[in-house]
Amino acid sequence: MLLRNVTQDDVDAYVRMRCDPVMTADLGGPLPSAGMADKVRRDAQEAASDHAWLKMIVPDPDTPAMVAGSVTLWSHEPAPGTGQEPFSEIGWMVLPEFQGRGLAKRATHTLLEQARTENRWGVVHAFPAAGNGPSNGICHSLGFQLLGELDMPFADRVLRSNHWAIDPRTDLPQEVRI
Ligand SMILES: CC(C)(COP(=O)(O)OP(=O)(O)OC[C@H]1O[C@@H](n2cnc3c(N)ncnc32)[C@H](O)[C@@H]1OP(=O)(O)O)[C@@H](O)C(=O)NCCC(=O)NCCS
Repeated sequence: MLLRNVTQDDVDAYVRMRCDPVMTADLGGPLPSAGMADKVRRDAQEAASDHAWLKMIVPDPDTPAMVAGSVTLWSHEPAPGTGQEPFSEIGWMVLPEFQGRGLAKRATHTLLEQARTENRWGVVHAFPAAGNGPSNGICHSLGFQLLGELDMPFADRVLRSNHWAIDPRTDLPQEVRI
């Protein structure tokens, strides 16, 4: 497996990940596919400028065009007027035909290792839906601490989520067991 930056050629993978009701069941529901080309263009620019880490998961380095999903680490900017500080957040998605092989866990570990190596991002937060077994399993086995539950506003609804956090410099296991 390797991670590479999102590029403008990733529109099809974005549509499959973000415009599908099953893939987005825990993420506020599907987005309109009409907006995806613009979204990918913006994300590719952000990745290229290193403003955020927006990575596509390539399961087989010999087949770079085949994409299994994404893992993303960015600075979450709270809404103006809330008085909250920005914080680092990570999220992941793996397409159905690639699920259950440990790819999300390995990709998340790889990105957090990079954060540790570069001493960037500080404490990293994740907010999987409380009922999302695989995502909560990833947090648990990679050394995140469960800080509690909270209600996350997502599009036009509210999702009950777990709040996990990790400092990769001190809490990340050296190796990931799949
Ligand atoms: C969540 C998601 C990324 C998991 O991807 P994946 O590559 O299949 O995950 P992995 O194979 O790395 O498995 C991760 C862990 O979950 C466990 N797991 C898998 N299915 C599970 C289930 N139904 N219930 C509980 N744990 C489960 C695995 O055993 C593994 O834990 P372990 O290493 O301790 O054994 C993928 O299902 C997905 O993209 N879903 C839709 C989008 C989404 O919900 N994204 C996450 C938002 S926070």
